[in-house]
Amino acid sequence: MTQDELKALVGRAALEHVVPGTVVGVGTGSTVNHFIDMLAAIKDRILGAVSSSVRSTERLQAHGIAVLDAAAVERIPVYIDGADEIDGRGCMIKGGGAALTREKIVADLAERFVCIADESKLVDVLGTYPLPVEVIPMAAAQVARRFAATYGGRAAVRAGVVTDNGNHVLDVQGLRIGDPLAMETEVNQWPGVVTVGIFARHRARVCLLGTAQGVRTMRFD
Ligand code: 5RP
Repeated sequence: MTQDELKALVGRAALEHVVPGTVVGVGTGSTVNHFIDMLAAIKDRILGAVSSSVRSTERLQAHGIAVLDAAAVERIPVYIDGADEIDGRGCMIKGGGAALTREKIVADLAERFVCIADESKLVDVLGTYPLPVEVIPMAAAQVARRFAATYGGRAAVRAGVVTDNGNHVLDVQGLRIGDPLAMETEVNQWPGVVTVGIFARHRARVCLLGTAQGVRTMRFD
């Protein structure tokens, strides 16, 4: 199976985690795009979706799925999203699609994060994938220097990318994230950082992993 076929497989499997009669949280990316396309088939069974990006909102609406403002929703049972890396405890690197801040906001509304990913995303230790960090533009160089001094990472501004929130994204290479929660907590306090793409506080509770043998369900409770 190709990587895209594995993504489609888990996009379909995620339908079983949608709770009928509720609002579902929807992430961003090529794996989630498959999920959105499958969700269209059961759109009459949900109240709507809260979306984590302009791209996902447009795709949902093109399918006739109601998109609710996150500000109007207090709690949702499930948030479904992809990942750039996921470890054996459900901690993730996210933000390859530059939607990390809104993804974390919607994940925070949810009782359960269900990650959908092909098997290439499963790692022992996070950090091979360059860590995305959304920053206020004037702080980009300062945050990059602080990464080098604190963790030895090499940060570069992602060329040509402006987030849905009008900010820049740094991609930080050369990290080995042995304690994701500690690094998430620390970096989130640096002035100018909007969101670091470590999802440890909002880690996945379930991962549907697309493998050549089918969907492998990992639970992290
Ligand atoms: C977007 C993300 C995506 O979930 C992540 O990049 C995975 O994307 P894909 O499903 O295309 O592999 O965090 O900001």
